[in-house]
Amino acid sequence: MGEAPSAALPRVLLTGAAGGIGRCLHRAFAGRYPRLRLADRVPVTALHGSDEVLTGDLLDPSVAAAAVRDIDCIVHLAGIPKENTWEQILPNNIVATISLFEAARGAGVRRIVFASSNHAVGYHDAAHALGIEQPVRPDSRYGVSKVFGEALGRMYVDKYAMTVACLRIGSFRERPEDSRQLSTWIGHCDMAELARCAIEAPDYGFAIVYGVSANRRAKWASPDALRLGYRPAQDAEAWAAELEAIAPPPGDPAARFHGGAFCALEYLDPRGEGNKP
Ligand SMILES: NC(=O)c1ccc[n+]([C@@H]2O[C@H](COP(=O)([O-])OP(=O)(O)OC[C@H]3O[C@@H](n4cnc5c(N)ncnc54)[C@H](O)[C@@H]3O)[C@@H](O)[C@H]2O)c1
Repeated sequence: MGEAPSAALPRVLLTGAAGGIGRCLHRAFAGRYPRLRLADRVPVTALHGSDEVLTGDLLDPSVAAAAVRDIDCIVHLAGIPKENTWEQILPNNIVATISLFEAARGAGVRRIVFASSNHAVGYHDAAHALGIEQPVRPDSRYGVSKVFGEALGRMYVDKYAMTVACLRIGSFRERPEDSRQLSTWIGHCDMAELARCAIEAPDYGFAIVYGVSANRRAKWASPDALRLGYRPAQDAEAWAAELEAIAPPPGDPAARFHGGAFCALEYLDPRGEGNKP
């Protein structure tokens, strides 16, 4: 992906650039955009001459303001990437996201790509395929924070005419690691391609796209992927023989719902069967 930068391409801010997905996108985008600003509360190492590094906590409005200055598109990855306490989720996933969106609006940034999650809809029954028309059904405090980010994005499109893509990322891994990930996996190349499409596609208003590879067993449909031009190329099926047996027992909440193990955490079965602490 390391083509020469073009004036037609946007100036991009990556938040959470020190994290797993951030490092993947940083490598993929190095040298591609006229500006690639890498923001995180832990230091990031620059890879290319057009990289800019900003270290700070996005909860701080002055950090958010500095991060978005002279930027055209934000890819917002920063946050707690799994279930945690409200003491962690509220500031890092909700308040910091508000801080960033508000700074973006104030600075005239036109586009935000938000790292949402399949856990925004995790408590839907895994026996049925999911699109984007079903109501949200978060499976965790973490999932609620992603629903919040999606709602914030929707409002910024409707009220402020911005373009916002919410990527409901599945399981970002080098390779799939269990039977669930035969459907939910997104490989590194596809993750970078999905983010590139969301950054570079002509204005699309509001979009929700599942962040998954072209897995033969995928259960999530993304009509908006076409509008963004996302055509995944990787497929978890290559690991099927090895991974099929790595699965929770049938009836376990981790098997019954789209969100997998997140659904088993603190789960009290409303039917009174198989309660888990
Ligand atoms: N990895 C996955 O499979 C997956 C799946 C679905 C969604 N996501 C989402 O994608 C995003 C990136 O995930 P990841 O796996 O790279 O996570 P990660 O934990 O590796 O990276 C997140 C980064 O955000 C930074 N950060 C957290 N709070 C911050 C704050 N207040 N200010 C500044 N920086 C802050 C952290 O320092 C970290 O480097 C997250 O929002 C996550 O919820 C990831």
